[in-house]
Amino acid sequence: MENGKRSSFTGKLGFVLAAAGSAVGLGNIWRFPYLAAEYGGGMFLLTYIVLAVTFGFALMVAEIAIGRKTGLSAIGAFGALSKKHSFIGYLAAIVPIIILPYYSVIGGWVLKYLAMFISGNGIATADGEGAFFTEFTGLIGEPILWFGIFIGVTMLIVLFGVEKGIENASKVMMPILVVLTIIIAIYSMVIDIAEDGGAGIAYYFVPDFSKFSPMTVVAALGQLFYSMSLAMGIMITYGSYMKKDVNIENSVHQIEIFDTGIAFLAGLMIIPAVVSAGTESVGKGPGLMFIALPKVFESMPAGEFIGAIFFILVLFAALTSAISLAETIISIICDKLHLKRLYAIIVVFIGCILLGLPSTLGFGILSDVKPLNMDFLTFFDFLSNSVIMPIVALLTCLFITFVIKTKTVEDEVESSGKFSGKMLFRVIIKYVAPIFLVIILISSVINGLIDAGYVTGGVAEFFKI
Ligand code: PHE
Repeated sequence: MENGKRSSFTGKLGFVLAAAGSAVGLGNIWRFPYLAAEYGGGMFLLTYIVLAVTFGFALMVAEIAIGRKTGLSAIGAFGALSKKHSFIGYLAAIVPIIILPYYSVIGGWVLKYLAMFISGNGIATADGEGAFFTEFTGLIGEPILWFGIFIGVTMLIVLFGVEKGIENASKVMMPILVVLTIIIAIYSMVIDIAEDGGAGIAYYFVPDFSKFSPMTVVAALGQLFYSMSLAMGIMITYGSYMKKDVNIENSVHQIEIFDTGIAFLAGLMIIPAVVSAGTESVGKGPGLMFIALPKVFESMPAGEFIGAIFFILVLFAALTSAISLAETIISIICDKLHLKRLYAIIVVFIGCILLGLPSTLGFGILSDVKPLNMDFLTFFDFLSNSVIMPIVALLTCLFITFVIKTKTVEDEVESSGKFSGKMLFRVIIKYVAPIFLVIILISSVINGLIDAGYVTGGVAEFFKI
């Protein structure tokens, strides 16, 4: 879609809800809690919040403003502002292509758990210390089947153009998800207080500064990009649909509060439930939510029923995010390869299945193949969130500072109201973010090398958590 023909969101609420639909997903409910558990609980939470109100704010404002100013999605937007720099848009476009396949693998896990709870077997998923999860993900056919269903449903929604219907449904589902998450979180805390004197709550809330390392920041920043759908061109696309009279700064604040709020609650629901055995056993990686929650539902009154409702709601959150990932890839393929939409959808569907296979098999027959000492899913996740996204974010900051100047963004924001965070925005984009992002990139690459065994000794000590 080029300029004039572009449809737009009706008013501010429409924009905020659509952007929040993309932002709130598995990133908040599945990814945030396991990272927080792994990277020191309270220390991670604090780091994340500080980054969200500084980096997250500045970058989201910048992306939305660039999108609205040009009326184009990422590749076109960078190109329209400066021909030489459209490569930043291309780089951003790689990110959803890496994320969607493994996102769908986790979407498949959600479907499996939903099926278990709906059929009255949900409590069985609490068996052993994560034994059910390990056994299920270690299989070959069944996880592929669920993963295929998840990506298939996503593609059907996109094919029949019923995204609006899903988004409307999720406007009802999301508030229910928030309420249910609060209830489960309170329950988790009560159990934690009764059984462990609140050790889990303390782990989540009290920052332990000895747990801080450069990797805390790397992980928190990667999570920030992922959770807010930043540094991958998506917010540029959404900005291009935004009406000229909607206040960008206020909208960003609302998305931020909503997105961070849900992640925070998800942590509260999951982390106290896993700290009980002592904080040593906290890091359970990508399986954490699927191991911790069934235990909570097992001890909860009507747990089977509540679990079923919970997984339905999570499924909706995951679908709206998967749709926004799929739409981004499809529109790029349509524009650049001049393919018909139907063919583009078929290409994305098949490509996704192929790219997702290593991620799902990485927990089973491919579990001995460990790129950078990670399972495939974690590897793809690391590649997009800790390597490519920081690079895109860095290039975006440099592009704004040296090519279009911060004023271009500021003017766009001010065209629809006061820009109270202007100084903050400017300082972050011009100075803080670039320096920080370079450090982050170096740390994240070094850490990858440490994991792979290439770096040891003092340097490794410093960078490791
Ligand atoms: N932000 C989404 C989440 O938190 C994931 C996502 C990433 C969606 C990138 C779209 C684009 O789950």
